[in-house]
Amino acid sequence: MKATAKAHTNIALIKYWGKRNEDIILPTNNSLSLTLDGFYTTTKVEFRDDLKRDLFYLNDQVVEGVQYQRVTKFLDLVRGYAQNSTMYAEVHSFNEVPTAAGFASSASGFAALAAAASRALGLDLSNQELSKITRQGSGSACRSIYGGFAEWQKGIELDGSDSYAVPIASQDHWDIRVAAVVLSATEKKVSSRDGMRRTVESSPFFKGWVDSIPEDLDQIKKGIMEKDFERVGEIAEANCLKMHATTLGAKPPFTYWHDTTLSVMQTVQKMREEGIPAYFTIDAGPNVKVLYQPENEEKVQETLRNIPGVTDVILSRVGQGVTYL
Ligand code: DP6
Repeated sequence: MKATAKAHTNIALIKYWGKRNEDIILPTNNSLSLTLDGFYTTTKVEFRDDLKRDLFYLNDQVVEGVQYQRVTKFLDLVRGYAQNSTMYAEVHSFNEVPTAAGFASSASGFAALAAAASRALGLDLSNQELSKITRQGSGSACRSIYGGFAEWQKGIELDGSDSYAVPIASQDHWDIRVAAVVLSATEKKVSSRDGMRRTVESSPFFKGWVDSIPEDLDQIKKGIMEKDFERVGEIAEANCLKMHATTLGAKPPFTYWHDTTLSVMQTVQKMREEGIPAYFTIDAGPNVKVLYQPENEEKVQETLRNIPGVTDVILSRVGQGVTYL
């Protein structure tokens, strides 16, 4: 009754921003991501008869509170799939996701937990089923089931049965790189969950955001298939800016950007003017991720490191999907 799984985090090129159902996590738009090899979570789950409650350890530390509740609620869901198993589990997770890098460790975390817990309970799930379960832990996590590029199809059913990620291109399709730019000011006042809700409920720009998605998706998928770096970068950067624009229209308005966030964005645009194709994308926090091609690695890294307020630059390649250890 035990299993260990490893899952990598992912960065959205077309963002998931807005839910139509908060309980089972159904999004208002399709999203598309790139799985990263540098950042991952390894999770070991063991179901045992002698446990009176679930136990959750993160990097060898006992976790209680809200984070613990999210994990047990998710284990309840997996137990439900296994003929309502009544056994509790001991869960050990190890994060190779520098929290400071601003990557949502919840994506790799829930993907690894879903894979290990379902395997430990003897469920033999397809990737599609696994993605559907993972989605209910954290939306963006459902894309981490796959390596390379994955699209989360929002679905139309009320029960979420058609809302899951599908593979778009594999890990070895295309060697593009991502630099995670770590800033000294990393405090984040609004969680992605709260930020999304506030935007959906109050931003007049939200409709424009949702309406613009199908065209972005169509174009970026063509760009990925043709390995057209400029096209993919341009669409990803513009899509990120549109997502962040919705937050400025919310009531009360908010932004995830800091002054250094803007400096990094401007530096990336300046690199382009100087002939180096590089593009940025930003999730629900101040840190910036920069897409670049392998031949420009040195130049991109050096330029980003020299920006005042940048404390670290962590490089990553395209990563693989969930694996069992
Ligand atoms: C801005 O997946 O963290 O990173 O479903 O509420 O857990 P929940 O939200 P989460 O949101 C991620 C939002 C984003 C964009 C993206 O990854 O697509």
